Amino acid sequence: MSDSPYRARRERVIEQMRKAGGGVAILPTAPEVPRNRDSDYPYRHDSYFYYLSGFTEPEAVVVLDSRTGHSILFCRAKNEEREIWDGYRFGPDAARETFGFDAAYPIDEIDTRLPQLLADAPALFYALGASAQQDRQVRHWLNAVRAQSRTGVSAPSAARDIRGILDEMRLIKDSTELDIMARAGKISADAHVRAMKASRVGLREYHLEAELLYEFRRNGSQFPAYGSIVATGANATVLHYRAGDAELRDGDLVLIDAACELDGYASDITRTFPANGKFTSAQRELYDIVLASQQAAIDATRAGARFDAPHEAAVRVLAQGMLDTGLLKRDTAGSLDDVIANKAYSRFYMHRTGHWIGMDVHDCGEYREDGPNGERPWRTLAANMVTTIEPGIYVRPGQDVDERYWNIGIRIEDDAVVTADGCTLLTRDVPVDADEIEALMRG
Ligand code: GLY
Ligand code: MN
Ligand code: MN
Repeated sequence: MSDSPYRARRERVIEQMRKAGGGVAILPTAPEVPRNRDSDYPYRHDSYFYYLSGFTEPEAVVVLDSRTGHSILFCRAKNEEREIWDGYRFGPDAARETFGFDAAYPIDEIDTRLPQLLADAPALFYALGASAQQDRQVRHWLNAVRAQSRTGVSAPSAARDIRGILDEMRLIKDSTELDIMARAGKISADAHVRAMKASRVGLREYHLEAELLYEFRRNGSQFPAYGSIVATGANATVLHYRAGDAELRDGDLVLIDAACELDGYASDITRTFPANGKFTSAQRELYDIVLASQQAAIDATRAGARFDAPHEAAVRVLAQGMLDTGLLKRDTAGSLDDVIANKAYSRFYMHRTGHWIGMDVHDCGEYREDGPNGERPWRTLAANMVTTIEPGIYVRPGQDVDERYWNIGIRIEDDAVVTADGCTLLTRDVPVDADEIEALMRG
């Protein structure tokens, strides 16, 4: 599989390792995690490991050696007895062939083979401190090399965080990744359509969650990309609320922030709609402000702009809307510029407008870059970075807040691929316009 994107990525990492002085990289996948007796959490590979291997079995490690240019996989040996219970395992031979490694060995051999691979390597490239269990293993392998020092071998004298190289690579998505992310976005958008159509007063939040999960799964998604939020009424003002058992009531909104993971890639969508299919005038007022703020952020998203530009654009529209509706009072909050400078808007909009998204819903990658004079300005957006755009307004009851706005929570979130002159939204197969949402729910 020499045309495998995974192999090509491994070659790029090896190139970067050489530029940094060379050495050996160790990338273990995630451990299996018990949930309760005899029952594990659904297994999910480590994103860095998967990025370089395409391999989804637990108990596996990728090793890259920049001196030989070889990429090596350690994985579970074939085992007929275990395969009867737990299912197919590639085993080293088939895994090497299928995933394009130069060599593959049973994981049981790693304690003897890794010290040999590490001997005389100038540096160890590893995700330092990411896992206590893995740190212990690495220490064990390094000590095994040190124990042989009398034979003339030396252990790596430097340690570098492999994530420095991988995060930069992962930040710019290649065509394989963008294709999967577009499909994940479409499935998630279809799931939101399904939930909107299913919404009825008297149902409970978990009923709509079930509609979402059904749509994810029937389209081949392996997992939700994160814990699904289905929040009705005042619950929509709790940012990290999860789908619970609250009843959908007449006149309340439903905020759904839920999306699927497909083939290792996340999507992330939020829509807010009336439980009964018709926005009240107060809901509609705030909804249209959030929608306009999202459009302003979308318009500010393009290669060459700063990461913060969409956030600033959204905040400007939201702050103006807060003044226009009286959520913020001009006599105390001052002008639009005052509201922005003093962050007075943060009472009703307390999170940021976007984050990187990729294999992880909150994906890796620096948000700032090196500037002149030791400054760290916001990062410059480049083509094929993928970010969410997710402004909102959340109004808790308060003496100084018009009661008609109490307990309204609204967020609108889409996933955007940065392009040379703008961005491409991956998640617009579900409407955002309030009239279109009402039409969909009527139909
Ligand atoms: N659903 C997680 C987020 O929107 O950041
Ligand atoms: Mn998000
Ligand atoms: Mn979200």
